Amino acid sequence: MEKKRVLSGIRATGRLHLGNYLGMVKGMLELQDNPGYEVFFMVADLHAMTTPYDPKTLQKNIYEVVLDYLAAGLDPENASVFVQSHIPEHIELAYLFSTVVSVARLSHLPTYKEKVRQYPENVTMALLYYPVLMAADILAYKTEELPVGDDQLPHLEITREIARKMNEKYSCNFPEPQQLKTEGHYIPSLTGEGKMSKSVEGSYINLTDELGVIKEKFARVPTDVGRGKSVPQEGGVAALLSLVELFQGEDKRKEYETEYLSEGVQYKSLKEELAQAIFEELKPIQARRKELDQKPKYVDRVIGGGAEKARKIARETLDETKRKMGLI
Ligand code: TYM
Repeated sequence: MEKKRVLSGIRATGRLHLGNYLGMVKGMLELQDNPGYEVFFMVADLHAMTTPYDPKTLQKNIYEVVLDYLAAGLDPENASVFVQSHIPEHIELAYLFSTVVSVARLSHLPTYKEKVRQYPENVTMALLYYPVLMAADILAYKTEELPVGDDQLPHLEITREIARKMNEKYSCNFPEPQQLKTEGHYIPSLTGEGKMSKSVEGSYINLTDELGVIKEKFARVPTDVGRGKSVPQEGGVAALLSLVELFQGEDKRKEYETEYLSEGVQYKSLKEELAQAIFEELKPIQARRKELDQKPKYVDRVIGGGAEKARKIARETLDETKRKMGLI
């Protein structure tokens, strides 16, 4: 049976947080255990360069993501992990794709506009090109479905458009990739506004956070008096209830909702129990991470092996595309 290939990635901008873990990593871990799939975990170092970054810490950040992937359960026997810039075929394929997508389409993307607002001094070609490179990452492996959080949906839409245009214009056979929705496809921010994000201080819990740190972060989540006529659908309380559902189950969430509508919720104990439940899931990940941190040679070997597998496939797709486009 031909295996279905799946690629997904995370930018090398530091350690993983719960949004990355629940929105993407957990979905990938499920696929790696399914013999019908061949799974590629990528560290997007080139995408990390699209916003201001420090060259002195980029190597460390790449390594952090690899460690987080492995600690979270990536099994090199069943999945590959590689660093984006080690496979230059992605960049070449992205250039070919850039011939079928307009500047206007890219500059109207909400994700681009948000970054322009965030970094007005850094509106570069690389930033505009972001979704084209991402389309190349995905389509190089002919990925049909991939776990990504909701924030990546505009990029998937561009990827589908590129695939369609390449198929129409050059008779390529790219799939039109769809989001594989995980339970945690949208993890709200601890600040009560928007989503959990690396670029918003106070919004996230890292996979490496100790119990004490998680408790401190929860202490700052804005709440209310704990009771009312309807359960809040946004803000800090809604964020806490989402995490309760994900880490303690739907029934526990319902219990709190009932309390909210009657005698009232005690946020102190809710936060305490939730912190404990999250830490229980993170504890084994943190233990594995500490072990792996002592084995840099092993980690390098895993990345090297992953790159070898990835390059072969990306090379095939690139050659096929070049042939269709009349370059060879
Ligand atoms: P990045 O590094 O911003 O995020 C990595 C993954 O984590 C998900 N995520 C979330 N999911 C749910 N709730 C949240 N609050 C949350 N925050 C982050 C993201 O949706 C993403 O799935 N462009 C990508 C990196 C990339 C990529 C690719 C992904 C480059 N090439 C090819 C897939 C396929 C990004 O910025 O990820």
